[in-house]
Amino acid sequence: MTSIDTLLTRDGEAESCTPELAMPTWTFDPAPGYGPGASMGDVIPVGSPRQGQLPEEYRSASAEELDQRIRAVKQRLGDRAVVLGHYYQRDEIVEHADFIGDSYQLANAALTKPDAEAIFFCGVHFMAETADILTRDDQAVILPNLAAGCSMADMADIDSVTECWEQLEELYGTETDERGRMPILPVTYMNCSAALKGFVGERGGIVCTSSNASTVLEWAFERGQRVLFFPDQHLGRNTAKRMGVPLERMPMWNPRLPLGGNSPQELLDAQVLLWHGFCSVHRRFTVEQIEKARAEYPGVRVLVHPECPMPVVDAADEIGSTDFIRRAVASATEPTTFAIGTEINLVNRLAAEFPQHRIFCLDPVICPCSTMYRIHPGYLAWVMEAFERGEVLNRITVEESVAEPARLALERMLAALPQG
Ligand code: 13P
Ligand code: SF4
Repeated sequence: MTSIDTLLTRDGEAESCTPELAMPTWTFDPAPGYGPGASMGDVIPVGSPRQGQLPEEYRSASAEELDQRIRAVKQRLGDRAVVLGHYYQRDEIVEHADFIGDSYQLANAALTKPDAEAIFFCGVHFMAETADILTRDDQAVILPNLAAGCSMADMADIDSVTECWEQLEELYGTETDERGRMPILPVTYMNCSAALKGFVGERGGIVCTSSNASTVLEWAFERGQRVLFFPDQHLGRNTAKRMGVPLERMPMWNPRLPLGGNSPQELLDAQVLLWHGFCSVHRRFTVEQIEKARAEYPGVRVLVHPECPMPVVDAADEIGSTDFIRRAVASATEPTTFAIGTEINLVNRLAAEFPQHRIFCLDPVICPCSTMYRIHPGYLAWVMEAFERGEVLNRITVEESVAEPARLALERMLAALPQG
């Protein structure tokens, strides 16, 4: 069973970024609730399930028992069920997954199993919502632990974004320019609630992921004089900077301040307005860590995720999504040293999968994504066995009034990408 002491780094240091993560699972995750990082700002539809305490039989089961129970129920369910696992999940979950991938690949993976009645989504809340938006109504998307959210997604809620938009419309007006471009267009990172994807869809905007952000921004610049990018300031800044947008034309919007903390002129001059959001996992990476890796391992290839702060991205050799990082490692033909700036479960798995390379996490302190970590095998066994008995637990449902515009924003992203 993965606990902090088994998530060892190259130096065997067992320090963790959050002391709570080193607690036994059921001490760390005891209370019923829609937990931290679980899109707390979303309006949860009346009657939708909230995470209750996991029944004792699953909390007291050994790792081996849970493993066997998941294997057995999965076999009995056959094609009726599909299990999806994000790259950042623990190994004990990933080994039961029919598909492993990044958030976008997993949303698409759900579509490749049209006969599946249940999609057990081992990832976080916004990913399960996206899968529900893209799949048929008679397919149930199930999030094994409802407290598995994304703290970055929670940093932009529908009310604050709506308020920001109203202030911007007042400043910019709504008239298009001579090229037919709107004064401002919203672009959201996939890591946000369905409500925000719907908000974007209704206003002519578009969704992006970390693998297609520059293509999507190009699309947006053709249709808008400016872009409001949320929730991740780092992905927005790193991508726009590489496309040639000067930093002084990328002010940040702080939702707690009037005009986001900017003067009207700064907003008029802006090309990309960055929401004040970030990922607590990727924010930990530093330029000093890169310098240390280069000093210790001359020739090291430094790969980082674009959710890292700009100085880190600028100091790295390559930047890309979780899937990009995986492909970069997999395609190296010569034994190589890789220092990687992304979540520890993925880095450790790459190190185990490609022993011909030296692979380590840039951050020597173990910091898993604490909400991804909430998908413990006990929860997966619980929801799968319940489904077999005819009980659909932890279903994630996006109301059609939200799903329809959200789907539009996702479809615009698909149409903007190079085909083939
Ligand atoms: P991907 O879209 O690459 O899966 O990233 C999701 C995420 O949460 C990264 O922190
Ligand atoms: Fe959210 Fe960061 Fe976790 Fe990704 S790694 S799910 S962005 S908190």
